[in-house]
Amino acid sequence: RRAPPCTFVVFGGGGDLTKRLLVPAIYNLACAGLLDDGFSIVAVDWAELSDDILRAQFHEALQDFVAKRGTAAAVLRDDIWRWLNTRVSYLRGSFEDPATFERLGARIGSGNAVFYLAVAARFFGTIVDRLGESHLTDEVGETYRRVIVEKPFGHDLNSARELNIRLLRTLRERQIYRIDHYLGKETVQNIMALRFSNGFFEPLWNRQNIDHVQITAAETVGVEKRGRFYEGTGALRDMVPNHLMQLLAMTAMEAPVSFDADAVRDEKSKVLKAIHCTGPEDVVRGQYGGGVLGGTPVRGYRDEPDVAPASRTETYVAMKLAIDNWRWAGVPFYLRTGKRLAVRKTEIAIHFRRAPYALFRDTPVDRLTPNIMTIHIQPTEGVTLQFGAKIPGPTVRLGGVRMKFDYSEWFSEGPSTGYETLIYDCLTGDATLFQRADNIEAGWRAVQPALDWGERTEAAPLCPYAAGSAGPIEADALLARDGRQWQDLAE
Ligand code: BG6
Repeated sequence: RRAPPCTFVVFGGGGDLTKRLLVPAIYNLACAGLLDDGFSIVAVDWAELSDDILRAQFHEALQDFVAKRGTAAAVLRDDIWRWLNTRVSYLRGSFEDPATFERLGARIGSGNAVFYLAVAARFFGTIVDRLGESHLTDEVGETYRRVIVEKPFGHDLNSARELNIRLLRTLRERQIYRIDHYLGKETVQNIMALRFSNGFFEPLWNRQNIDHVQITAAETVGVEKRGRFYEGTGALRDMVPNHLMQLLAMTAMEAPVSFDADAVRDEKSKVLKAIHCTGPEDVVRGQYGGGVLGGTPVRGYRDEPDVAPASRTETYVAMKLAIDNWRWAGVPFYLRTGKRLAVRKTEIAIHFRRAPYALFRDTPVDRLTPNIMTIHIQPTEGVTLQFGAKIPGPTVRLGGVRMKFDYSEWFSEGPSTGYETLIYDCLTGDATLFQRADNIEAGWRAVQPALDWGERTEAAPLCPYAAGSAGPIEADALLARDGRQWQDLAE
């Protein structure tokens, strides 16, 4: 189904996010025939650019994007580019100046519009205020006006609340689309499909059968050129209240009564509100030092550009969380995320309880293969089941085996940026994969104690780890204390 006509306004339209992700996603939507002829892009930014320069930049960005595919689709489709090219225009202006919004209003006219805030978070409130003052967010008749807000949405619970209040002065909740790009990932959307379209997972999905859950988002990249931003952010704020909480919510939520946006978001809020982090001993903060990654020496965090030489910002965090509800009481959820780790890997590992007793007398209970279902989010995409089986031979011996579903083997869809679904959903008014005000606040509420402990050196020591390692050893101790261990990152 084609999305209705719309002017897609991108604040920060000359920036990196627009070129790297938004334009490629729009190109993919155009290739799929999902955009109307009445679709156009207005990029708003303060840099001195022209329509032609911007179009040339978008063209180059698209060529890079398709080239990465390395398949038959590795060539930019000329017909699509011609279609898109004529629909791109540039509007130069400050995000604070009412005149920018006046000119924007003239460009948009009276039709549908999406305003995408691909700008630094400090501009979110101002832009929305100005949009409101210029009546650009007024919806007349069937026309819609929607705002997509990038992360970071606040830097703690209070600031997130304040931002919600500020946006809601101008907009109605249903006009606000708070993005978490993890929700655009196919593998993340698949968690719900997996749980709720199959009969055999759900009966096992509870404290009677699950021992614990591990959620990992390991990155090999360092802070790249974002030292200034990251110094005031850190791994906890950057990844946990948003991306990891979404993974946790998808894994732990109750079945919604429908796929209606509010039904799904109600369930997510409920489970996030039940999260409990007991004390500072359940949080490990780490920071990478120098090390070797993929055979190349890399510098430590404190030597990165725009980072203070004595910085206490964490680049790694591991946490143990409890979910105080009927389904999950007593089942710990262990989360970890970090930069400059040995491998790039995001996954959710559901560890099931052991078989009740060692029928296999020669196999001590603690050496039975643990039953683990791993949902691979990236870069591997799929699901693995690990269980024990008899090793062929005259004596009874058990060995661990794995069954694997691999996305790329089953489905031949080309790679996406993850933003296709999100942009299309916003154009068509489906907010299921966007965060409602209460979801955002519930995510922050869950990590607020850890943020508070992080402020106090004695409560939250910073544990060093070498770049290219699996993280600080203190994170291993967090699980060892409970007689458990992390999934091997290298596997
Ligand atoms: C972003 C964070 O939201 O997510 C980055 O700000 C992080 O620091 C990125 O690298 C991870 O996203 P992905 O899609 O690469 O897992």
